[in-house]
This record gives sequence, C-alpha cells and structure tokens, in this order.
Amino acid sequence: MADNHDVLVIGSGAAGLTAALGLSQHRRVLVLAKGKLTSGSTAWAQGGIAAVLDAGDTFEHHVQDTMIAGAGLNDRKTVEFVIERAPQAIDRLCELGVPFNREKNDLHLTREGGHSHRRIVHVNDATGWAVQAALLKAAEEHPNITLLPRQSCIDLITGRNQRDYSGSGRIWGAYALDEHSGKVVRHTARATVLAAGGAGRVYLFSTAPRGATGDGIAMAWRAGARVSNMEMMQFHPTCLYNLEVKNFLITEAVRGEGGRLLNPATGERYMAKYDAERMELAPRDIVARANDDQIKRHGLDYVHLDISHKPPEFVKQHFPTIYEKLLSLGIDMTTGPIPVVPAQHYTCGGIKVGLDARTDLPGLWAAGECTESGLHGANRLASNSLLECFVFGEAAAKDIHECWDQLDEPPEILPWDESRVTDSDEEVVIKQNWTEIRRFMWNYVGIVRTTKRLERAAHRIRLLREEVEDYYGHFRVTTDLIELRNLIECADLIVRSALHRRESRGLHFTLDHLETDPLARDTVLVP
Ligand code: FAD
Ligand code: SIN
Repeated sequence: MADNHDVLVIGSGAAGLTAALGLSQHRRVLVLAKGKLTSGSTAWAQGGIAAVLDAGDTFEHHVQDTMIAGAGLNDRKTVEFVIERAPQAIDRLCELGVPFNREKNDLHLTREGGHSHRRIVHVNDATGWAVQAALLKAAEEHPNITLLPRQSCIDLITGRNQRDYSGSGRIWGAYALDEHSGKVVRHTARATVLAAGGAGRVYLFSTAPRGATGDGIAMAWRAGARVSNMEMMQFHPTCLYNLEVKNFLITEAVRGEGGRLLNPATGERYMAKYDAERMELAPRDIVARANDDQIKRHGLDYVHLDISHKPPEFVKQHFPTIYEKLLSLGIDMTTGPIPVVPAQHYTCGGIKVGLDARTDLPGLWAAGECTESGLHGANRLASNSLLECFVFGEAAAKDIHECWDQLDEPPEILPWDESRVTDSDEEVVIKQNWTEIRRFMWNYVGIVRTTKRLERAAHRIRLLREEVEDYYGHFRVTTDLIELRNLIECADLIVRSALHRRESRGLHFTLDHLETDPLARDTVLVP
C-alpha cells in the first residue's frame, strides 16, 4: 500500500518546514527527513539571516551587495523578490518565537563579508539551531503536519512507475528507504516539494553535515529536471583546523566584528594584498582564495584568525558557542588566534526553479539549497541562504495552494521491485568509493581549477559510476548506497558544468581561463 498525503515535503530544514507550515492550513502534509529531523544544514547555521532593517540601509544596497558577490550571474528579478520579502520573513520567525538578539527594542544586526551595511539578524552564534527549533515546534504542534524522520528517499515517483505506464514527467511523490525496517515504501502525493539541501559532502572537507549528499538535486535530475550553475561551489574561508574535529565552522561574523587573518609564519595581515579596500570583509570567494594561496605558497597547514585584540567579554558575549567549543579543544580565542582552513560550505547551483518554486516537472516544486533560483549567481552573499529558504518555501506553498484544483490524485503506483537484488556482501565498495570521490573532488575540482584536473576528475567519475550502478543493480539499498549514488551524480554535474564554463567568474576560478566574459551566462544542464 502506498502512503498517500496531499503534499509530500522532502526535507525538514528551513525550506521544507516553511513550505509545510505555509500549506498546513488547508492540506495534509507529510515531511520526510533522512536521519533525524535536525540533520540538515539549517541547525548548523551560525551567522544569521540577512534583512534590511536598519534606517541607513536600503533594499537597493542589499541587491547591489548580492549582485557584486554573485559576480553578475544573479537574476536581478529573483534578487529583488527575495530581498524585499526579508523583513516579513523575520517578522514571521519572531512570531514563531525565535529569540533573536536585541539591543533595547531593536534587533541587533551583525556584519559579514560582502555586506555594505550591518544587516544580519542572529541568535548569538547559533542562529540555525534556534530557527530549526522554532520551525519544528510549530510543525509538531500542527495537526495537519506529519513529521517522519529516518526516511531516505531514493527516487521520485514518475509516470514510469505508474501501474499503467505513462511516459509523462509528472511527479507523484517518492520511494524511500525506511531506515527502521529496511523496507522501501511509496510516499505518494498530489504535490511534492523537494527541500533536501546541498551537496557539500561531495568534498573531503566541508562544513556541511554528513547527510548533505545532494540527494534532492540527483533525484530531480534523474527524473528529468534541469540543473544549473553546479560549478559554483562555495568554500568558506574559515573552518577550524583540527585533526579530530574536521568540520566546525568559525562564523564570518568573527571577521565582521573585527577578526583579522594572519600568516602564522610571518604574522603578516595578508588580506591587504588580495583586497586592500575590503580586507577580511571581502566576499567569500576572494577570502577563501587568499587563505588557500597563503597555505599553498608558504607550505602551511592553516592560517590564523585572530580576534584576541577585542575585550574578552565582547568575544564571549558575541560568540559563546564557538568560544566554548574551542576552549574544549584547548584553544582560547580571547587570548590567541584560531587555526583555520577553507572548506566547502554551500552549493550555489541546483535544480532550476522559477519565482513560484516550480521545477520543470509537473507536480514538483523545490526550495532552499537544492535549488538554483537566480539569487546567488556565481557566489552566495553571506546569510542570504536561510532567507532564500523562507522566501521560496513560502512561494512553493502559495503556488501549490493556488493551483490545487488542477492537481490530480496520484494513480496506482508500482511497489519497489526487490525481486532481483540480494543483501550486499561487499560494503567495503561503498566505503572505498565514498572516500575516493570526496578526495579527488577536493584535489581536482576545488578552489583553484584547471581543465586538465577537471578532465581527470571526469574520467574517475565515469569509472566509479559504472561500478556503483552495477552494485546498485545487484544489492538491496542502504542509506550509504543511496548517498554514494547521489554523490557521483552531483560530482558529474559539477565537473560537467565546470568544463562548460570557459571563464573565471565568482567561485569558478580556473588557471586556463583567467578572464571573465563580458556577458554572464548560466550553465544549464538538460537531462
Ligand atoms: P537543510 O537544512 O540542509 O535540510 C535538508 C533536509 O533534507 C534535511 O531534513 C535532510 O534530512 C533532508 N534530506 C536530505 N536528503 C534526503 C533524502 N534522500 N530523503 C529524505 N530527506 C532528505 N546560511 C545562512 O543564511 N546563514 C548562516 O549563518 C549560515 N551558516 C551556515 C553554517 C554552516 C555550518 C552550514 C553548513 C551552512 C550555513 N548556512 C548559512 C547555509 C544554510 O544553513 C543552508 O543553506 C540552509 O540551512 C539549507 O536549508 P534547506 O532547508 O535547504 O536544507
Ligand atoms: C557564517 O556564519 O559564516 C556562515 C554564514 C553563511 O553561510 O551565510
């Protein structure tokens, strides 16, 4: 029996829960998560949410900052659409009880790289956790929302899975591995919203959580949706360098509040060489490349981020989570520098969506980090992504609501066919390939690229894909296998997009094409 709801939402982060809450007044919504309900990037967000709330700031300033960071690849209409809705999004979060920091009655605004004004609303240095908790509480309390963790979606259900086969691209929900029972279930719905997050774990070093394996992007691509700008992978300049804790972010707000980047060997404050005007507050691609350059040029393991010139109370008050975490690792940020390295942080590309969050496929909407909406262009401006989740989660809900009467009930869907697979006796293949893919993506498709390295990566992807498809065809699915298959799909999309772009722009920096073309063009891949 298929489990049928009005709307299926895949993902319980900021985008998925916003869509679910927006729909819940009129529809029965099922929200799925892989692993725990808090497993996405949302819960990990530190810095905050960008919104024009200061009297000296304007929407136009925020639009300009976003377009400058995005190196002109942004879609101005989308940028305006999102930025103009930011203050309302913050109001709604306040209504849900998110305890944003305040100064007297006003929201406290911090500053991050690329922003010409203070405009980041935050909850200390753990904004994401507070937002995730408030959204989850509201969803849990709503009678029309069912939250179902530990469901690893494998593929979207399309016309090909109907009992009366139809070649249509219409989406009717998804097949998911129930992690409790090990069985594959059918979750069918009249409308499906993909909000499955980014693909950061395709890289060896990433600030993103374990489950950020690009499942949403890969599923939409396999079902026939276009994907764009996948070469635009954002690297955060300051991830903690620690041999045990590999993916702890040191928020950009540390630099926003005066933190300096120093060469540990010479003590030089080197950002002046890379961006003399904006220094540590240059957009992320510039600062990440500067850190990478210092590390490679001087044979370092890391660079230093130092805010110890500020009063200890100021540092502890602004960054309590980071302060405590570092102290537990023997680093006191009030008295000395923090060792940091760049790490993958955000997937700017993804499933192509319009302002109504519609994808190319009837019945499928998408929102959040798994999408390419035109907001970020060639490089996301700090703290614009949670904002995108709220605006597009809401847009998906509104559009589904408006076209509800045109959405048919799902037809009869074939059950998952397990007749030709057995239990795997070679789990080692999955482990080996997981590591291999992440290592060559880091080495060949990282911050600085060349055509030759991209071609080497493409060659390895072809070999791995063959091996994994063979494995997938013979053995029962596990979450690790589902993720590996998606990592390969995303790696392929990233490398193909990177090979397409014969210029350097924003996050795509290649030594073989250092110039930027006069005309900014999206890289759009068509299945
Ligand atoms: P996520 O929050 O990642 O949620 C994805 C959901 O999809 C999860 O529930 C997951 O379980 C589910 N899922 C995934 N695959 C499957 C599957 N196969 N089947 C079922 N469910 C699935 N942005 C900002 O704007 N400000 C910040 O300060 C900020 N700080 C950040 C700090 C860190 C360390 C990181 C990693 C990111 C940060 N970002 C920040 C980026 C931002 O957090 C993310 O872009 C945003 O939270 C993405 O939200 P989302 O709803 O699209 O996806
Ligand atoms: C950070 O706090 O540095 C992350 C902000 C973001 O990714 O937008």
